[in-house]
Amino acid sequence: ALVTTTEMFKKAYEGGYAIGAFNVNNMEIVQGITEAAGELNSPVILQVSKGARAYANHNYLVKLVEAALIENDIPIALHLDHGPDFETCKACVDGGFSSVMIDASHYDFEKNIEITKKVVEYAHDKGVVVEAELGKLAGVEDDVKVAADDAMYTQPDEVEEFVTRTGVDSLAIAIGTSHGAFKFKPGQKPQLRFDILDEITKRIPGFPIVLHGASSVSQEYVKIIQENGGNLKDAIGIPEDMLRQAAKSAVCKINIDSDLRLAMTAGVRQVLNQHPEVFDPREYLKVGRANVKDLVRHKIINVLGSDGKA
Ligand code: G3H
Ligand code: 13P
Ligand code: NA
Ligand code: ZN
Repeated sequence: ALVTTTEMFKKAYEGGYAIGAFNVNNMEIVQGITEAAGELNSPVILQVSKGARAYANHNYLVKLVEAALIENDIPIALHLDHGPDFETCKACVDGGFSSVMIDASHYDFEKNIEITKKVVEYAHDKGVVVEAELGKLAGVEDDVKVAADDAMYTQPDEVEEFVTRTGVDSLAIAIGTSHGAFKFKPGQKPQLRFDILDEITKRIPGFPIVLHGASSVSQEYVKIIQENGGNLKDAIGIPEDMLRQAAKSAVCKINIDSDLRLAMTAGVRQVLNQHPEVFDPREYLKVGRANVKDLVRHKIINVLGSDGKA
């Protein structure tokens, strides 16, 4: 059934695991994720970005998720990822989503609170839950110095006031993860600031934390892409043991998009490169979809620990 994340997060927090939040952009991705979650009896969050809504259209994505709900007897939350403004959040609240993120983290503290609070008031009135963000994720374009700058990380001193004044349901934090497939420089040692996570947890015990930019960038798929005409030199992600550690903590939602893209692209490239005669889209999309399913199965069992928790 379509659910909010409230119950999911409560059980995940208490049980020491996390729910995977996977970005969806087309039918094959929705199918790959939900087939894996369905077979493993795992709750799952399907999240849709502004870019996904621009690419696939809001209604197509909602209907794909509705189809997945018919096919799979598990709790699924439909979530807006990185909602850029009140209007986009409102459109998703009104348009069938059970959860929205308002990402006003690039504004100053007071403005972030003001925008987030407005979204929370609208969403809660309609039974929809809200995720917000404090701190800035290191970007692909940032150099090592900036990525390691303390000012980027979520400041533990701010979290209690933020969640109290906004009434938000979960909080995305910055502890060293970043979006995309190039999370650390070549030679740089992957590191997450678990000390900051601990401090945050002390300030708001029991409150669900969200980790963005949490793909591991499987070198297996990077290799397949490289061997079949791609160019992803130096692609690197968050080591799985760090994500497992996060999943056992107050982190209740782990966002994964890049890993899905890599899995899908590896499958498509492999088929097209090895079988130049193929021109039926089903032939390459089904391999991409199977890779997505394998990947999500692996995440649920080996990283998130959400199998059997539906
Ligand atoms: O956080 C970003 C997600 O990976 C979504 O990416 O905006 O290109 O759809 P997108
Ligand atoms: P990745 O790029 O690490 O998959 O992060 C996805 C994400 O945070 C979506 O909001
Ligand atoms: Na957890
Ligand atoms: Zn994100």
